Amino acid sequence: MIFTVAIDGPAAAGKGTISKAIAARFGLAHLDTGLLYRAVGARTLRGFGAVEAAEKLQPDDLLASNLRTAEVAQAASRVAVIADVRSALTQFQRDFARREGGAVLDGRDIGTVICPEAEVKLFVTASAEVRAQRRFAELQDSGSETTYEQVLADVKARDERDMNRAEAPLKPAADALLIDTSTLSIEDAVAAAAAQVEQRL
Ligand code: DC
Repeated sequence: MIFTVAIDGPAAAGKGTISKAIAARFGLAHLDTGLLYRAVGARTLRGFGAVEAAEKLQPDDLLASNLRTAEVAQAASRVAVIADVRSALTQFQRDFARREGGAVLDGRDIGTVICPEAEVKLFVTASAEVRAQRRFAELQDSGSETTYEQVLADVKARDERDMNRAEAPLKPAADALLIDTSTLSIEDAVAAAAAQVEQRL
């Protein structure tokens, strides 16, 4: 079976949680494509060139433990504007999307650029304030000293860069279902996503 679920949206909207739940429920493989950009961004923080880092990326690089920090997130968003970085990462994502057995990919351009033929396309969003509040709570739990204001500024800076870049900007595919998690519980958001998948399977 070839079956792709494309889940796009801005940072901390709930894409990751929904993707994992959908993958587990329907027995699909899952790729968090943000990790590819984070792994490249992390390399640039250590002095490597972004394009070379993208060309040499290995699957094991996605397992590095430092990829979830705010610093790496900003570096990821900066390398993600570079066309040669994006094209170096495209084929791996396309192959993953069309692998036998079906796949869920979450990111910014899955339904628009990586897999426009995806059977299910979702655009998961929420207000910047709600997303910053969630990310702030996660960072606090992991012992970070950051403030809500700093997290909100980071979220807005990333939105601005991700939505306004020339290459594969963040935007809903014309045929994507919008899921706004500002007021939806995670259970309701997953149920809305699962209903779409069931309908297409
Ligand atoms: O989903 P995330 O927060 O881990 O993504 C980190 C950055 O990577 C994001 O700000 C923009 C970039 N990205 C992208 O440009 N395209 C994707 N498909 C996934 C992430």
